[in-house]
Amino acid sequence: MRSTTGWQATDSSTLRRTLLQRRDLRTDDVAVRVDYCGVCHSDLHALRDYDTHSGAPLVPGHEFTGVVTGTGPGVTTFSIGDHVAVGNIVDSCGVCAMCGAGQENFCHSFPTLTYGGTDRQDGSTTLGGFSREYVVREAFAYPLPAGLDPAAAAPLLCAGITVWEPLRALAVGPGSRVAVAGLGGLGHLAVRLAVALGATTTVISRSRDKHADALRLGAHDLLDSTDPEQMATARDTFDVVIDTISAPHDLGPYLKLVAMDGTLSLLGYLGPVTVETTALLVGRKRLGSAGSGGRPATAEMLQFCADNGIAADIEVLPSAQVATALGRLRQNDVRYRFVLDMSDLDS
Ligand SMILES: NC(=O)c1ccc[n+]([C@@H]2O[C@H](COP(=O)([O-])OP(=O)(O)OC[C@H]3O[C@@H](n4cnc5c(N)ncnc54)[C@H](OP(=O)(O)O)[C@@H]3O)[C@@H](O)[C@H]2O)c1
Ligand SMILES: [Zn+2]
Ligand SMILES: [Zn+2]
Repeated sequence: MRSTTGWQATDSSTLRRTLLQRRDLRTDDVAVRVDYCGVCHSDLHALRDYDTHSGAPLVPGHEFTGVVTGTGPGVTTFSIGDHVAVGNIVDSCGVCAMCGAGQENFCHSFPTLTYGGTDRQDGSTTLGGFSREYVVREAFAYPLPAGLDPAAAAPLLCAGITVWEPLRALAVGPGSRVAVAGLGGLGHLAVRLAVALGATTTVISRSRDKHADALRLGAHDLLDSTDPEQMATARDTFDVVIDTISAPHDLGPYLKLVAMDGTLSLLGYLGPVTVETTALLVGRKRLGSAGSGGRPATAEMLQFCADNGIAADIEVLPSAQVATALGRLRQNDVRYRFVLDMSDLDS
């Protein structure tokens, strides 16, 4: 085994710097020195649920960039020193219809998650990117395209791909009318990507102090979700509403905004939700969702971001300040993604 250090949960609110073991490199593994890891709202959800997870070790972090420091004997795509990016899926069965279609994120035997997943060979619980080293199959590491800043690119690997897949699947492009609800980590990247795809893009936010940012990110319009009049005026006007709100909420007002035959794509982990069927019936509206992305889409998204100068707006903190990052994210006090700098784990 290889030793490294990382931030492991001791309870649902505390992460402690801990010595971690990584597996020895298998034939097709690469070892990655993790330089930057984004802090996703899903990390907060995982910590919230930690106490109910029967003591399985939890090291969060599933969007990171770094440098290859070791390669297994069968690795063909990477060499030591290459800059790479890793997202929230690190393995899949490789043989089911979904894997065959390049949708490893929907693998029929469930993809192996970057943390809290079960390794397909040794059954161990995967430990995430809030650590200095990660060992991953080369197929689930992506070359970081030249021109992308490694810190600002890290959030592309979860927040970015999660909004990219539905935007692409719903054929967003010039002429599309897109709204993005919730201007956080996912939301601000959804705005940038939708605008770059050519869509007329509106931000729906309850935070007035984010309105100037929304315009700076490229949004063409704004809706204050706390103002029923504004919401009513925008009825039936969007082909796609990307809902990134992280807390349970009434879908009714958001479905009202969807135009006939349009889609509300719900991306937050909300658990069970209630939908009034007439809210779908009137206007033949669709309710959809998406989660993460397959390997081809992830590579495509990274290249699109490099070509269009897209990355996250980040606040970089030393990894020792992980508690500050999580606490402020919980308070909606982030513009728009915290990224942990892992180099402090060397000392
Ligand atoms: N489907 C997937 O594969 C996937 C991947 C990653 C994350 N997620 C989930 O997606 C959600 C968003 O993640 P994130 O990292 O973007 O979170 P985030 O940075 O915290 O952003 C969430 C945004 O939702 C809005 N919001 C939060 N609480 C709200 C409330 N009570 N009522 C109305 N709006 C509220 C806020 O926007 P405003 O201030 O603008 O209103 C906030 O900035 C989380 O549930 C996360 O777990 C899913
Ligand atoms: Zn995430
Ligand atoms: Zn599969």
